[in-house]
Amino acid sequence: MDHTGALDALLHEERVFRPLPQIVIEANVTPQNLQAAQAKADTDALAYWEDAAHELDWFKKWDRVLDDSDAPFYKWFPGAKCNIVYNALDRHIETGNKNKLALIWEGEPGDQRKYTYYELYRAVNRFANALRSLGIGRGDHVVLYMPLLPETVISMLAVAKIGAVHSMVHGGYSAKVLRERISDVQARLVITADGFYRNGKIVNLKNVVDEALTSASTECVETCVVAHRVTVDVEMHEPRDLWYDDLVRRERPEAPTEVMNADDPLFVLYTSGTSGTPKGIVHSHGGYMVGVNRTMSWVFDIKPTDIFWCTADAGWITGHSYVIYGPLVTGTTTVMYEGSSLYPQADRLWDVVDRYGVTILYTAPTLIRMLMRYGPQYPKRKDLSTLRLLGTVGEPCNPEAWVWLYKYIGRSECPIMDTWWQTETGMLMISPLPISLLKPGSVNKPLPGIAADIVDAQGNAVPAGTTGYLILRRPWPGMMRDVLGDSARLRSDYWERIPGGVYFAGDLARRDQDGYIWIEGRADDVMNIAGHRIGTVDVENALTSHRFVSEAAVIPVPDKIKGEVAKAFVILTPGWEDHFENLDELLKALRLHVQNEIGPVAELRAIEPRKTLPRTPSGKIMRRILRAEELGLNPAEVTTLLPDD
Ligand code: PRX
Repeated sequence: MDHTGALDALLHEERVFRPLPQIVIEANVTPQNLQAAQAKADTDALAYWEDAAHELDWFKKWDRVLDDSDAPFYKWFPGAKCNIVYNALDRHIETGNKNKLALIWEGEPGDQRKYTYYELYRAVNRFANALRSLGIGRGDHVVLYMPLLPETVISMLAVAKIGAVHSMVHGGYSAKVLRERISDVQARLVITADGFYRNGKIVNLKNVVDEALTSASTECVETCVVAHRVTVDVEMHEPRDLWYDDLVRRERPEAPTEVMNADDPLFVLYTSGTSGTPKGIVHSHGGYMVGVNRTMSWVFDIKPTDIFWCTADAGWITGHSYVIYGPLVTGTTTVMYEGSSLYPQADRLWDVVDRYGVTILYTAPTLIRMLMRYGPQYPKRKDLSTLRLLGTVGEPCNPEAWVWLYKYIGRSECPIMDTWWQTETGMLMISPLPISLLKPGSVNKPLPGIAADIVDAQGNAVPAGTTGYLILRRPWPGMMRDVLGDSARLRSDYWERIPGGVYFAGDLARRDQDGYIWIEGRADDVMNIAGHRIGTVDVENALTSHRFVSEAAVIPVPDKIKGEVAKAFVILTPGWEDHFENLDELLKALRLHVQNEIGPVAELRAIEPRKTLPRTPSGKIMRRILRAEELGLNPAEVTTLLPDD
């Protein structure tokens, strides 16, 4: 099996960390209720999830917990009526949370904006009314191309409140990708900002939207709403473009919340898969809100006094579930920071924790590895004593980074929740709880109700210590509802890859003798660059769309900070010599081309020209041979994936 994607030390880690007694006593889930929950989930998973659903407010309760008659198109809570925004905002207005802080936002230059639940509710209502006055309503698709701003939260919630479907595109994607997403969902509205601050500079966003909207494929867009953030020249195209502030100024702060079916779509989020173009993963109101609510309160142990900070961007699933929906549904205070963690210096995260008294910090191993390099003197300068719980997500957390986080940020007192999940799962799936014994580098055990297993290509469970494919045997409420416009891929890419009607996660993993799960990286042609999923196929397509690249193969190579970065092998088209002074110039142009095609998220470490590329008899490029060469391994050590690969 291919261990090369994993950081070496993962394979040798044996330390165990115990939670402090105080944490165990005070946790929302104590050892006793965990045992009871586990027993219930094991004997009757649906009853377990039904209990979880009762913690939320519904306009009408379900007829059944799960409709599996059209599996794998599982329908959670059929017959129920709800809206996640009712749970994230409206219901808090009726309770003691009305004047509690919902959102603390800090801009990179140091400016701040704070919203109580009531203020956020009113802002969302104003924008919801504005959206309705633009003719946007139930079922319409809205694309958001936004940085981390309060308006981003308000926009998402307003769109969901009126029953429309949001689709966020991360600001690290190019105009071309944005255009494809807009056209794919047939968005009637795009919401963006003029720009944002990053590393002390202004990044212009609106011009990317303008470029995306020049093509016939984006004619579906009637309106583009622009939130004002920075002082920058913006071309407003009338009548299409409208300023956010002008739109909401006269709107009333009350707006009805659309009554949705539990199964109605809430958002679409694109992610790279094994083959083809990135998939639009569809999540719906009912099951998703049950999933994020339960995991927030159990894994992140939310208490009324918490200040919760998830450092993810709103453009990724982590931002959706644990910056915005999860925290607000549980009525906690969520922190958002606009800019770079290194600005003005490497203590910015610790400074934010110190100044706002953050109690729970959920972040990415890449960020920890980067900040580690600057040394512990940065966190030592700040008061981090309000922290009581830490979390990581997105990629394997190597023990070195884990222990640094534990020691220097968590004072050797805060448990670290290394959470495994995906865009498709919507919610945390495999994770410790605050009361768990922790092994650095392991994602611990499946949460109650989650039936994770590790199997071979035939679907047989593999013994402890053996690497296999990570699968899920049972549906769960936060699960994806569909692949937008291509339902067949829900079957072919996930539920029919391994025999037995199980969900194929696309990861390699193993279980140790104690039942702890260790994620070893992707089993498919997806790279994990700084915790971001980028398809090798997507980068290859970007390269071959250049006139002087006839063939390309892209592989992930290990990187000390980012986990993985991409390396490309290309066959050049003759004639390039007439257009470029030398090879370096051409390779520079190819990098730029990939940036334009995909965006800065797809970081290319190196491009190597080749005369030929290794191929299977049927003509498929054998990336594993290239990987073996690159890593100095015998190709047999980098085994093939599933039989059809
Ligand atoms: O390979 C796994 C890795 O990230 C993938 C999911 O990526 P995405 O859909 O972008 O969602 C990221 C945030 C939820 C997984 O298939 N991954 C996620 N969490 C972990 C992880 N790998 C190791 N350890 C984790 N905790």
